[in-house]
Amino acid sequence: MLGAWIACEQTMADEGGAGGPAQLFAQHCASCHGADRRGGMGPALLPENLERLRQGEAIKVIGEGRPATQMQGFAPTLSDAQIRALAGWIYTPVFPAPQWTSADIKASRVENKEAPSLDDKPVFKGDPLNLFVVVEGGDHHVSILDGDSLTPIYRFASRFSLHGGPKFSPNGRYVYFASRDGWLTKFDLWKFKILAEIRVGINTRNLAISDDGKYVIAANYLPRNLVLLDGDLQLIKILPATSLDGKDSSRVSAVYDAAPRKSFIAALKDIPEVWEISYDPNAAPIFDGYVHDYKMQEGLGKPGFLNPRRIQLAAPLDDFFFNASYSEVMGTSREGMGQVISLDVRKKIADLPLAGMPHLGSGITWKWKGRMVMATTNLKEGRVSIIDMETWQPIKEIPTCGPGFFLRSHENSRYAFVDSMMSPACKDTLQVIDKESLTVVKNLTPEPGKTLAHVEFTRDGRYALASLMENKGAIIVFDGVTLKEVKRIPMSKPIGKYNVWNKINRSEGTSH
Ligand code: HEC
Repeated sequence: MLGAWIACEQTMADEGGAGGPAQLFAQHCASCHGADRRGGMGPALLPENLERLRQGEAIKVIGEGRPATQMQGFAPTLSDAQIRALAGWIYTPVFPAPQWTSADIKASRVENKEAPSLDDKPVFKGDPLNLFVVVEGGDHHVSILDGDSLTPIYRFASRFSLHGGPKFSPNGRYVYFASRDGWLTKFDLWKFKILAEIRVGINTRNLAISDDGKYVIAANYLPRNLVLLDGDLQLIKILPATSLDGKDSSRVSAVYDAAPRKSFIAALKDIPEVWEISYDPNAAPIFDGYVHDYKMQEGLGKPGFLNPRRIQLAAPLDDFFFNASYSEVMGTSREGMGQVISLDVRKKIADLPLAGMPHLGSGITWKWKGRMVMATTNLKEGRVSIIDMETWQPIKEIPTCGPGFFLRSHENSRYAFVDSMMSPACKDTLQVIDKESLTVVKNLTPEPGKTLAHVEFTRDGRYALASLMENKGAIIVFDGVTLKEVKRIPMSKPIGKYNVWNKINRSEGTSH
């Protein structure tokens, strides 16, 4: 079960006056949420972790609780003013920042002792590569959906608030999840069993798995680092996200597997660097900084294997998209400016003419009139941008209903689906883009007023599955040719769904 940890009372020194929020917290909340708010049986309550919870919602949760969970309402015990004070206080940072050391990481690891034998027979009939893993945010569960019959075949409780997409081992048998509060889970899709769990941080963004399945790496906001593990979730090492001189540190926005390069690429949020961490045992040594004295090289070089190689930039980049060979990466800065970086020369090679805050992380590619194009939604403007991947020049801007988050297609489909999730008026509508004419050919609004987003195709591209992201929501299945609804599968706020085949084969129609 959950690792328990030791209270660290001194962080409560401020605001610790009788009746103040710190004291109320220690008395009523710390037993579940941790004395320094790092979390425990209940989720962490720190500003980084509460980014997606509005303060008004926090007030409501503290007063009324969350039905069917251990979080009971405190309205009978605490006054309105006390509840408000607590709700305000949990959004203030803890000083000094809470730590999560390698000892904490190791102590947290849970292994399923009754782990199944590793024979290679799934416990279900059907195509193990056409399974969908559906993350249900409503009650924090994961459903496994058979992509042939389009029916759920297994469901289990996940850690609180899974973050970033789950990642599959190269053969598609294992799937790894990361939770907002730092828990990684390894699940066996053939036996329907959790194999191991480990808490790698206090606030985690996402994880990546190496192309050979040997390494798993997690990107953390808190502490500011990357955590490298083996495929069984045993800690290998922590890579603190600091500048070369050690003076500055950074949150890590995301980490990706760059399979053809045998390396992980990490995006740092607060220092203008991109990191490449090679998992090739033969990687060339790393020479940080400026080496002029060649005689000294041997003394100065760091092993290239599992150490960060730094690419210095003018500004930090947040959101990434790679070309097919992973030699180039497109990124956007906080101001929304795009640029292209060569990972081989390790510097910027082009500016990207995109101004609407492109959401590169969910960009897709396809062949259009003989050339590869990349398409991305924009988080601030209602349009899909199409870019030529040879010249990095814009080809077309397709107007959509509103700013969107996800864009999805499949090699076998002539259509791409885009949402307008960021727009209150259009969040209920999926728009279908014809990949040849580059125009919107259909609007789908099966449930007016309810958020509809995040499409993933079946392995063969025949059906498109979309999420009706309500607590009493559903996966809505559309026929990939007629665009008619063919089925509805009830789900508790299905956030994302991930098809094993499309992910392990890096389908050009989906993000990786
Ligand atoms: C018995 C254990 C327990 C106690 C005591 C408790 N909580 Fe919780 N709390 C939880 C659990 C479990 C959840 C997650 C519920 C869910 O699944 O949505 C939660 C959720 C929350 C959330 C929502 C977090 C999010 O990210 O959605 C807030 C805010 C919160 N608690 C504040 C408090 C405060 C303030 C107190 C003290 C007044 C308190 N809790 C006491 C167990 C507890």
